[in-house]
Parts: sequence; C-alpha cells; structure tokens
Amino acid sequence: MSVSALHQPFNQQVNSVQRLTLANINDCMALQQAVLNSLPPDQDKVHPKTREKFAQLLADDSPSTIFGIFEDGQLVAQAIMLCPRTIEEADLLDFELPGEPHEISTLAGVLTNPAYEGRGYMSCLVNAWREEARALGRPHLCGIVTRDNTKSWSGFMNGGLVIMAAGFDPSDNSTVYLVHRDISRGPALSRSEQSILSESARNNEYHPMSYRILTPTVSLEEANEHFAEGYVGVERAYERNRAEVVLVHRACLDYYLGIK
Ligand SMILES: CC(C)(COP(=O)(O)OP(=O)(O)OC[C@H]1O[C@@H](n2cnc3c(N)ncnc32)[C@H](O)[C@@H]1OP(=O)(O)O)[C@@H](O)C(=O)NCCC(=O)NCCS
Repeated sequence: MSVSALHQPFNQQVNSVQRLTLANINDCMALQQAVLNSLPPDQDKVHPKTREKFAQLLADDSPSTIFGIFEDGQLVAQAIMLCPRTIEEADLLDFELPGEPHEISTLAGVLTNPAYEGRGYMSCLVNAWREEARALGRPHLCGIVTRDNTKSWSGFMNGGLVIMAAGFDPSDNSTVYLVHRDISRGPALSRSEQSILSESARNNEYHPMSYRILTPTVSLEEANEHFAEGYVGVERAYERNRAEVVLVHRACLDYYLGIK
C-alpha cells in the first residue's frame, strides 16, 4: 500500500470521530485491552488506565475529552484530550511549556486496535483534537511519545506537530520526545509539503546546514543539542531507517510556511 493511501480512512462517513461518554466506558476498556494484548508485557508505549480513571475522564464535568472512531459498532481508535489548568496538570515531565497552561492542550492515550492500524485513524483523532483546541482557544498542541514509537510520532507529524525536544520519563524509564504545534501560527505543512521541505533542506536550498538526521541511538544530550540549535523533527527518514527523524532548521520551516 502506498504511503499516501495509508492516510486515507477507508470510509470517511463510517469513521467520523465522535466524543465518547460514560456510556462508552466498556468500549474504552476493551480497546485498551486489545492494544495491550498486542504489545509485549514490558512495553512502555501505553500507560494503562483503570476503569475509575476512564470514568473520571468521561464524566460530564471533566475538562478532558475522549475522541473515538467506530467501525461496524466497535470502538477501534481513541485518544484523550487533556486541558490543563496548572503546570502540574499539563504533565509534560520536565519539558519547558511552550505557553501558559490555559493555552495548552495535550493528546494522550492514543490507541488504535491493531487490526485497524495504518488506516489514518490516528491522523483523524489528531485533526479532531486540533479543531477542539482551536474552539477552546488553546493554541499549543503538545504530546509526549516514546522515542522508539515511530508510528505514534509519525502520526503526530501527520497533524503538523514537530519534535522539539527529547527527555526522560522516570515513570517507566523510557526516553521520549516532546511534539508540539502552535496553531495560532497558521496552517501546518501538508505531508507532501513536508517532503518537499526536507528535500529542499537536504539540497541546502535555504541555508547551509539546514538538514540533519537524528538517529534513534544518539544520546538525549546529543539530540537536545540539535533542538537547542533550532532544529525540529518534521518527518521520518523514509528512504533510510524509518525510525530516524529528519530535522530541519526552524528558520527553514518558518521561511517555507511564510512563502506558502
Ligand atoms: C500509534 C498508533 C495509535 C497509530 O495508530 P494508527 O491509527 O495506525 O495511525 P495512522 O494510521 O494515522 O498512522 C500513523 C503512522 O503510523 C504508521 N503505521 C501505522 N500502522 C503501521 C504498521 N502496522 N506498520 C508500519 N507503520 C504503521 C503509518 O504509516 C503512519 O506513519 P507515516 O505517516 O509516516 O506513514 C497505534 O499504532 C497504536 O495504538 N499503537 C500502540 C499504542 C501506542 O503506541 N499509542 C501511542 C501512545 S503516545
């Protein structure tokens, strides 16, 4: 299947994103279990949630929203949008927040039933999150992803988020990336524009040193040196090791966005 085909849900009408309610709590638990069953016991991609936690997140007065996608009556994908009021609630480890807590929303607990992976459902959930964040006046979209969870950070990138820092999650000893997009800065690059930008950066069209590759094995310190110099991760290195990240300088990204 071609890369672009992977981004097209098979049936847009059937797969429209819905807001879940307490009535869906069993669906949420079942989907989480299906995903956990597909992962090794020592996995660090999913932080499993209890029934009580889902009940809290799904409650009418909860500041969070769970988005879901159904296929033939079965919940096949879900994601939790959190709207923090404080730095602690933002729960972005020790990463520097890109804005005030009330300007941020985070997407966590993204899950797609393994039998339905690769159909663009994560991209649909990220798009629903972006529109809800826009409506709520929270321009900074943030997420934390395990560094080796290529499918997940790729899914965020499909929604225009970029990798802007690397860090450590002591809760499960994993190394993670912070992904971010400020929607108040206008539209993100489309997938094909991202590829054109990486290609141009690679050919030094904008700026010498405008393009780098971040391999999954470099230390957090080395990765963060790139980010401190202004590089951000914009896509997977498709023609190389797909777990590698293509970094372009933020100046190139801004230049490209400015001339769109
Ligand atoms: C991460 C996850 C939510 C992605 O869901 P999805 O609905 O398959 O996502 P999409 O179809 O939108 O695809 C996202 C990216 O993953 C890739 N992908 C999805 N399934 C894949 C598979 N089986 N093999 C290879 N790549 C795959 C897609 O190609 C896409 O990357 P690309 O745009 O660079 O090609 C899903 O794999 C999952 O639930 N994983 C386990 C739990 C998890 O890691 N959650 C994320 C926690 S932050």
